Amino acid sequence: MIRVVATTPFEGQKPGTSGLRKKVTVFQQPHYIENFVQGLFDSLDAFEGETLIVGGDGRYYNREAIQIVIKMAAAAGFGRVLVGKGGILSTPAASCVIRKHEAFGGIILSASHNPGGEHGDFGIKYNIGNGGPAPEHVTDAIFERTKTIREYRIMDADDIDLDTLGITRVGDMVVDVIDPVEDYAELMGSLFDFDAIRDLFASGFTMRFDAMSAVTGPYASAILEEALGAGPGTVMHGEPLPDFGGHHPDPNLVHAKELNDLLMSQDGPDLGAASDGDGDRNMIIGRGRFVTPSDSLAIIAANAHLAPGYKDGIAGIARSMPTSGAADRVAEKLGVTCYETPTGWKFFGNLLDAGLATVCGEESFGTGSNHVREKDGLWAVLMWLNILAVRRQSVAEIVAGHWETFGRNYYTRHDYEEVDSAAADALMADLRARLDTLPGTVINGLTVESADDFAYNDPIDGSVTTKQGIRVFFTDGSRLVYRLSGTGTAGATLRLYLERFEADLARHDLDTQDALAALVQIARDLPDIEGRTGRSAPTVIT
Ligand code: G1P
Ligand code: ZN
Repeated sequence: MIRVVATTPFEGQKPGTSGLRKKVTVFQQPHYIENFVQGLFDSLDAFEGETLIVGGDGRYYNREAIQIVIKMAAAAGFGRVLVGKGGILSTPAASCVIRKHEAFGGIILSASHNPGGEHGDFGIKYNIGNGGPAPEHVTDAIFERTKTIREYRIMDADDIDLDTLGITRVGDMVVDVIDPVEDYAELMGSLFDFDAIRDLFASGFTMRFDAMSAVTGPYASAILEEALGAGPGTVMHGEPLPDFGGHHPDPNLVHAKELNDLLMSQDGPDLGAASDGDGDRNMIIGRGRFVTPSDSLAIIAANAHLAPGYKDGIAGIARSMPTSGAADRVAEKLGVTCYETPTGWKFFGNLLDAGLATVCGEESFGTGSNHVREKDGLWAVLMWLNILAVRRQSVAEIVAGHWETFGRNYYTRHDYEEVDSAAADALMADLRARLDTLPGTVINGLTVESADDFAYNDPIDGSVTTKQGIRVFFTDGSRLVYRLSGTGTAGATLRLYLERFEADLARHDLDTQDALAALVQIARDLPDIEGRTGRSAPTVIT
């Protein structure tokens, strides 16, 4: 029986770059998630009898949310829900399952790399039939609907047993509890040379994969340890925990320190990799060599043809604007276009659907290809393994060789987290107002060539997205970018992205922060970060 429940709107159920993300306690309020899901269903058309994919990263409140979503999907008229066993589906696996089963769309429960647990964050996002995040017109419609919602519909039914594979029913709707790894593992097997990678491991190659107590544990154990023979102990923190063991499931040098320390030791493994809460991010480290995500994208683009799924070459590359220009140099050499898009994976969707780009990436540890419509952490790891299996060189050798051929883009990101929102907005507004006055100015020995506020014209649907970050270009090719985060949950996060190109082989071994010291000073002084925010140094340096 369908129950119609009276409700009143909550403020601010506006999905951001990666869905609606709030504290668990916000989601636990009566009717909170129900309002959002009803707002979503009310914004969609013609899904009666269709299939919906549901799963999440296993964080606290995942199971409760999934039961609500399933009962509301049944009340709304969906024909079938495929849900990952245990409520688990990594974000890229959800994208894969949506595409493979030609589903109408999918609901992913995750707050990505944000901390989990009772006092952590939770999130919900909707992906469309191509497997990618809902475009802005859909998320805007959901938000509008949640502002006026007065009732929602939910099936009066028992909870689904999420831990047993197989088919049950909720009302007239079929619920199929599926293996969350199977479809994804099959797709990976079709893209990469598993035999060559098996030979690599058999030859004594060693790796550690840090699943950070989040969703990729089961995927990495099945694919790396079992299918590819990397052996037990390869996967660290492999069991998904509701609070991620109290850590931030974010693969960077701060939160995956244990892994990085291991790789920086003389007798460490050959390859280290990590993924985030929902499995879409990746970090790659070779013994003694951290690979920046921007370099990783460029190296993957230059070597993708070594993997069977990409043997005919790539159609194009797409990178988010703040990502370094290293990929552009590869694109130029390959004679393909490198598209520059605003931050956020959703901007790659049209380029991938149209076949204009094959691989894409962001500086924020996101890499992927046209195989799904999300960034994909394990995909990047398998791509690196495939490259290493064919080239039989170390990660450090491959990186050095890449710089020798293409030059090195020194690159760093400085984040100022939880700064006062008003101060951050004023800082950006002031920079915007000064853009026209900057060209020709000499600061700390560097001359500004041009400055702008990045805007993107989508070549497929013609949509225009403005105010995507302030860019300052210098005459020596260096670049500074200022941007406010769209995913934080407390105050504002100011991000500075700094980049300098170095062609001289003799200068490829500088420490990154040293190589960029002059630019760092300029980046701080230009908008007077300390005066405006009270911060003399960033919270996180990557
Ligand atoms: C951050 C990253 C961005 C990524 C997003 C979702 O967004 O910078 O590249 O797409 O998380 O993973 P931001 O907080 O900068 O808006
Ligand atoms: Zn993520």
